[in-house]
Amino acid sequence: MAETITITDNRSGESIEIPIANGGVDASQWRKLLPNVWFYDPAFSTTAAASSAITYLDGDAGILRYRGYPIEQLAEQSTYLEVAYLLIHGELPDQQQYETWVHDITYHTFIHENVRKRFMEGFHHDAHPMGILVSTIAALSTFYPDAKAIYDDDSRYKQIIRLIAKMPTMAAGAHRHSVGMPFVYPDNSLDFSSNFLSMMWKVAEPRYEPNPVLSHALDVLFILHADHEQNCGTTALRVTGSSHADPYSAVAAATTALYGPRHGGANEAVIRMLTQIGSMDNVEGFIADVKSGKGRLQGFGHRVYKNYDPRAKIIKQVADEVFGVTGKNPLLDIALKLEEVALSDEYFTSRKLYPNVDFYSGLIYQAMGFPIEMFTVLFAIPRTSGWLAHWLELLDRDERIARPRQLYDGAPERDYVQLDQR
Ligand code: SDX
Repeated sequence: MAETITITDNRSGESIEIPIANGGVDASQWRKLLPNVWFYDPAFSTTAAASSAITYLDGDAGILRYRGYPIEQLAEQSTYLEVAYLLIHGELPDQQQYETWVHDITYHTFIHENVRKRFMEGFHHDAHPMGILVSTIAALSTFYPDAKAIYDDDSRYKQIIRLIAKMPTMAAGAHRHSVGMPFVYPDNSLDFSSNFLSMMWKVAEPRYEPNPVLSHALDVLFILHADHEQNCGTTALRVTGSSHADPYSAVAAATTALYGPRHGGANEAVIRMLTQIGSMDNVEGFIADVKSGKGRLQGFGHRVYKNYDPRAKIIKQVADEVFGVTGKNPLLDIALKLEEVALSDEYFTSRKLYPNVDFYSGLIYQAMGFPIEMFTVLFAIPRTSGWLAHWLELLDRDERIARPRQLYDGAPERDYVQLDQR
């Protein structure tokens, strides 16, 4: 059996046979047969907008691998910075490469004082930290004009290090501003996740002492959120990067897309949903409302995973570690009951709706003391390394500028009507 498809234009009787290669068929082939006929796929549900070697998902089997390494092994044995190196360079670092990488990131965690004093502190006291973060990332492009040299290897490396290193500083700074606390400078004697906790929580003590269980749990969560193939935020990054905008502008675009409640904002929406449900007794009624079309079960469902999100399984294990330190989040029982009821209900199973990465992550963040508005910010911090890996890949593969076609269904040609004739 040939690994091909044949498309026939029945208007002309002409056909074209196109090979199926690596799970796809090349659209440039059928354009020859069907000029000015477009395949309509508005949310890219059945369209591969890129070829990529970074992350592999199998939605039916619930498989996630970064550069071929199973997420379960990376979560168990690696660190977020090592995973960031892997995503960007394509290989795990050796000892020297790892030490250099960690050193470079550690010593680029500071942000320009004007970014903090004149920009971040200009926001209203109750500005959502994601709004502050999105804007501040874009503002960084004005501090590093050399970032426009997108084909210069040294410049690329510098911007990648800066963005990975400064995301926690900007994130924590956004939080501190929103609660009226003084900005905390990075502590270069701490590892990546511990330093972030220090910038979030340090008060008057001379040096913040992070709880190692919580630092490790956060590092695992960062690993789980580092990349996820062609999701909405990464697609926004690729579209922006394809115009050859600088990496700060591309990452700002991605962060903006992540902000949405259908995407990275879901972890915040889950906690609001669990709080609204309020008690185990209300779970059945809530599920009935969802089934009747009144709202969605936040943290459930996924465009790709039609099985349990492998990240959600690992996050449930991390939750046990965290709750051992912080005490159990009272909303956990409601979440577990929701999962139990939903996964035994044909409405959800027939639609292949399972818990995704966001269903449990918010419970951990809340138990660790993060305000709910910070949850999506916590998603953006690690996703930056995935976004930058995709940015490099689209440039190295010399992708053309993203410019989809449309099916026009608006008004036909008509003549202008003077105002006094309308
Ligand atoms: C992330 O793409 C990624 O990889 C994203 C991500 C990443 O790491 O980057 O994994 C992170 O964004 C995870 C998803 C977080 N979002 C949520 O948890 C929000 C709640 N979920 C949904 O809104 C929804 O499931 C999406 C947005 C995640 C996926 O939407 P799709 O693929 O467009 O699915 P759909 O809206 O077409 O739904 C298919 C059916 C519909 O029912 P019918 O019209 O067939 O009757 O399933 C229903 C939907 O109504 N449905 C839900 C539901 N999600 C889909 N019904 C109830 N609750 C839900 N959560």
